[in-house]
Amino acid sequence: MSDWDLLITDARIATMRADAGDYGAVEDAVVAIADGKIAWIGAAAEQPKKTAEKKRSVAGRWLTPALIDCHTHLIFGGDRAQEFEQRLSGVSYEDIAAAGGGILSTVKATREAGIDTLYDDALRRLRQLAAGGVATVEIKSGYGLDVTNELKMLGVARNLGESSGLSIRTTLLAAHAVPPEFSGDPNGYIDLICDELLPEVVERELADAVDAYCEDIAFDAPQVAKLFRAATAAGLRTKLHADQLSDGGGAELAAHFDALSADHLEYTSEAGVRAMAEAGTTAVLLPGAFLTLGETQRPPLAGLREHGVPVAVGTDCNPGTSPLCSLPYAMTLGSRLFGLTPEECLAGATREAARALDLLDDRGTLEVGKRADIAVWNITHPRDLAYWMGGNPLDELLIAGLGIG
Ligand code: NIG
Ligand code: FE
Repeated sequence: MSDWDLLITDARIATMRADAGDYGAVEDAVVAIADGKIAWIGAAAEQPKKTAEKKRSVAGRWLTPALIDCHTHLIFGGDRAQEFEQRLSGVSYEDIAAAGGGILSTVKATREAGIDTLYDDALRRLRQLAAGGVATVEIKSGYGLDVTNELKMLGVARNLGESSGLSIRTTLLAAHAVPPEFSGDPNGYIDLICDELLPEVVERELADAVDAYCEDIAFDAPQVAKLFRAATAAGLRTKLHADQLSDGGGAELAAHFDALSADHLEYTSEAGVRAMAEAGTTAVLLPGAFLTLGETQRPPLAGLREHGVPVAVGTDCNPGTSPLCSLPYAMTLGSRLFGLTPEECLAGATREAARALDLLDDRGTLEVGKRADIAVWNITHPRDLAYWMGGNPLDELLIAGLGIG
């Protein structure tokens, strides 16, 4: 019996350890893997004398933690390319939503779609994410907006987790828009979620967290608070689409509930940033949506840095505001549009994304004891990942120490 299953040699590694700085980089490094976890990692010169079942040289390539996409709406019916054209001719996202388009048109298509279609379409997008180095993906519901169809979406997400080879975290986002059946009665819909849907989701263990869209065109703070009280009582952590189109106090609300993350944040105030810092809520920045909506107000990055709020980056892959299936490209946009450094972008797509999903103990950095989720890149330096626009330098993706096909 060997000590290790696999020893990767001749590597350059960006461990992304929070305490290390400079990407936690180690040149001439080795990584030992046993039982799907990192058993030893560091400079080759310091490697302990142990035996390995298999040895593999990566010939000087860079290894990073496999990427983590902590905010997607990957499962949906149809697409919204037509609205993309409408918006280019000057119609706003809010106007389209008010006319029954936007999220509600995807709701119609998602309700009509069968489970197999939803699964196959989402799997195709999931494979695109994996091709960019992603091993863990958060998937939200939110295009069903009734008990049957929200359960259908979460069931498809769980199935993807069981059969795709990637790790999937699921989030109940039933409070994404007011469904047509409850038009003019958002409180009635929130009651339905709290009284009927949430208990069923908890019973079937279909969700790892609960999210909501706090915005003029969706739900107000008291409605979100009611839902979050029910979620918290049921033992689920929360996340929030906060302050995307206006400052609705979303960041403060998320912080009040010790949310894992508050996402978007373009209009978040200084008070909101402070509240997040105190609560330890991660800021998830979504430059794909910012770009698609033609936003001009950027999230308060200077304040987030100043107050030490962890910053993650996600694709927000969805048919309306972010038709984006590449996390490296989201990193590129994060640096070009928001001013994140390349190192912040990589941390945002690894360590901080793991934090936003409550998975940091298990992944997100390359450290002993963590899952051997490792991306092998054909780059000359980790900064290249944010620098190249839309290329694909991934050579290989290891998940729990194994290559995926
Ligand atoms: O994250 N902001 C709300 N939800 C999505 C958009 C979903 C849609 O337009 O279909 C977002 O941007
Ligand atoms: Fe979103």
